[in-house]
Amino acid sequence: MKSQGAIRAAADAAATPTVSIRRAEIGDAGPLAGLMTELGYPTTADEMADRLRSILPHGDYLVAVALNNGQVVGAIGALIGYYLEKNGCFGRVIALSVASGHRGRGFGASLLAHAESWLRARGAVICIVNSSAHRTDAHRFYRREGYQATGLRFQKDLQPPVPLPASDSKI
Ligand SMILES: CC(C)(COP(=O)(O)OP(=O)(O)OC[C@H]1O[C@@H](n2cnc3c(N)ncnc32)[C@H](O)[C@@H]1OP(=O)(O)O)[C@@H](O)C(=O)NCCC(=O)NCCS
Repeated sequence: MKSQGAIRAAADAAATPTVSIRRAEIGDAGPLAGLMTELGYPTTADEMADRLRSILPHGDYLVAVALNNGQVVGAIGALIGYYLEKNGCFGRVIALSVASGHRGRGFGASLLAHAESWLRARGAVICIVNSSAHRTDAHRFYRREGYQATGLRFQKDLQPPVPLPASDSKI
C-alpha cells in the first residue's frame, strides 16, 4: 500500500507536469489540427499537414508544441516581422492554444516563454499578439505574462477579390 506522502507526491506530479517543448514536425499535424479547431478554426489533419509543409521550411517562422507524457497538448506559432518605419524587427505570436483538459497547468506560459526566447535570439525588440475582444480569459493570461493592451485591431475582409483599379491593372 502507498504511503500518504507517496500519494501526495504523485498528485503533485500530476498537477505540475514537467513541460517539454520542441519544434513541430509534419507528424504533429493531427494534434495541431485539433488545437487549431479548439481555438475556433476548424482544421483537418490533412489541411494542417499542408500548412506545415509551407511553414516549417521558413526560418522566420516558429511552430512549437508542448508535450505532456509524450502527447501534444499545446502549440504556439510565432514569426519575425521587419519594421519598415524604423530599423530592426519585432516578433508576433500568430496562434497559441492549449487543449482544454490541460489548461491552467503552465503549458501556455511555457510555450510563450519559449517563443519569446526564440524571437529575442533573432533580434526581436518586442513581441506582439493579436487577441480577439471576446477572449477575455486569454487577455488575463497575457497581462499576467507581462503584456499590455496598446491598441485596437482593425480588420477588413479581402475576399472575394476586388479587381485592381485601372491604373494598377496596367502593371
Ligand atoms: C490562454 C491559454 C493559451 C493559456 O494557456 P494555459 O496553459 O491555460 O496557461 P497557464 O497554465 O500557463 O496559465 C494559466 C493562466 O491562463 C489564464 N487562463 C485562461 N484560460 C484559462 C483556462 N481555461 N484555465 C485556466 N487558466 C486559464 C489564467 O489567467 C491563468 O492564470 P491564473 O491561474 O493566474 O488565473 C489557454 O487557456 C487556451 O488555449 N485558451 C483558449 C485559446 C485562446 O484563447 N488562446 C489565445 C488566443 S490569442
